[in-house]
Amino acid sequence: MNYEIHEICCIGAGYVGGPTMAIIADKCPNIKVNVVDINTNRINAWNSNDLSKLPIFEPGLDEIVKRTRSRNLFFSSDMESAIKNADMIFISVNTPTKTKGIGAGQASDLKYVEACARQVALHSLNHTIVVEKSTLPVRTAEVIKNILESEQIWQKENIEKKTFDVLSNPEFLAEGSAINDLENPDRVLIGGQNDNAIEALSKIYRNWVPDHKILRTNIWSSELAKLTANAFLAQRISSINSIAALCEATGADVREVARAIGTDSRIGSRFLDSGPGFGGSCFKKDILNLVYLSRHFGLPEVANFWESVVSLNTWHQHRISKLVIMKLFGTISEKKISILGFAFKANTNDTRESAAIQICKDLIEEGAELIIHDPKVSPDQIAIDLGLAPLPDKNISSNKNLKSNGGWRFTKDKYSSFIGSDACLILTEWASYSDIDWIKASKIMRKPAWIFDARSIADKKKICDANLLFWRLGDGS
Ligand code: UDX
Ligand code: ADP
Repeated sequence: MNYEIHEICCIGAGYVGGPTMAIIADKCPNIKVNVVDINTNRINAWNSNDLSKLPIFEPGLDEIVKRTRSRNLFFSSDMESAIKNADMIFISVNTPTKTKGIGAGQASDLKYVEACARQVALHSLNHTIVVEKSTLPVRTAEVIKNILESEQIWQKENIEKKTFDVLSNPEFLAEGSAINDLENPDRVLIGGQNDNAIEALSKIYRNWVPDHKILRTNIWSSELAKLTANAFLAQRISSINSIAALCEATGADVREVARAIGTDSRIGSRFLDSGPGFGGSCFKKDILNLVYLSRHFGLPEVANFWESVVSLNTWHQHRISKLVIMKLFGTISEKKISILGFAFKANTNDTRESAAIQICKDLIEEGAELIIHDPKVSPDQIAIDLGLAPLPDKNISSNKNLKSNGGWRFTKDKYSSFIGSDACLILTEWASYSDIDWIKASKIMRKPAWIFDARSIADKKKICDANLLFWRLGDGS
């Protein structure tokens, strides 16, 4: 049985597959890494000569792609030959929440994973180690193995030649810090049944990760650990956001409370920043998965416990939009509001489940005209997320008298978002929002003008000195 890894294939060139494979290629120059995707636009973008056009923005990624691409890192749509040549195949495709049928709204839709498994069964040769990288519900490895093995029955001529091992190797990288997370992981988790296959994957990681950080578990523990890690992290955010509301009601300050509890080494200080609610592709989806699994296994109390983490998050987002409306005298119809930040967190162009989406929808629904700025998110993406095209350009004379019933425009210049606006709402913690010249902003806003800081990055004193009203999340002082 061949457990020497010379060539890797990764199916899925997204936020997980792209950066992870770039690091493996960088750290293992003797391994050829082929990243394949059905989305040819995405593959073309990965192959773009202009590194600013890579499909995902991740600090430090462009440098790594520059030195590895065409050396031992390749992006292509040729799934068949990449699978044929691979000793190890990573499955890094998306696993969205099901929108219909059994488990709709909670269970993961495994259709993309299943499609990959079928492709692997069809094209692979000899022995292949299949690695689950996507976050998957517990016992998906069983599904993959099942498909791999049953497909062979239909390809009898290959039956002698093809064998598989399935490993679970969940990715813990966070967007925005993916390169550092991949280069210096807290741990690498490998779940599997065959020690030789586990060793083959461990050997790859040992090129840059110390052995004591490589945890080996059974396959189900590995799958469940990934869901649990995300559920625990999201739970901390809902916890601190619930306390933020209480702080506002009682005169406490959530930053002081977070500092006070964070110094307890049992609690720890990280992931205690109150914000507009967690977003990203993982937290909600993974918790809902856990909820579904718990109900499936007859544990409704467990399901309810985790479900409350998600409902608190949704409530929290609506709470912020309601609060903005109330501070602006209960009506925002035809008022201009500057929105700073649309990505679900700083240092990424990803908007999946961003709190900004729900909050902006709420404000538009109330008739506001939003002027949205984000350094990395495109207006096209915002239109998709809001399900609404931008308002027509006011500078075009024929559009001057258009009255808006709520809508949005995009601006590349954050200061121009302040022109005539009644309020500014900071939703993403981009560093460039922490040093805004509030005097300059104040001069062009309509008074009384509010600054709502949902990320605690603006300077309270400078804002108040600039004759602006100020609200900060969790600040009841
Ligand atoms: C998360 C996990 O951190 C990562 O391990 C997993 O692999 C994928 O899911 P990611 O979604 O990229 O990573 O971002 P993360 O930094 O965890 O932030 C998630 C959300 O929580 C963001 O919306 C962020 O703004 C919010 N957050 C995070 C807070 O509101 N407060 C905090 O203190 C931390
Ligand atoms: P993640 O954040 O998990 O990486 P993304 O949505 O960013 O998720 O990336 C997943 C990628 O997987 C997408 O580019 C998508 O086109 C790709 N993909 C989905 N199904 C398949 C498949 N059957 N074969 C190849 N690529 C696939």
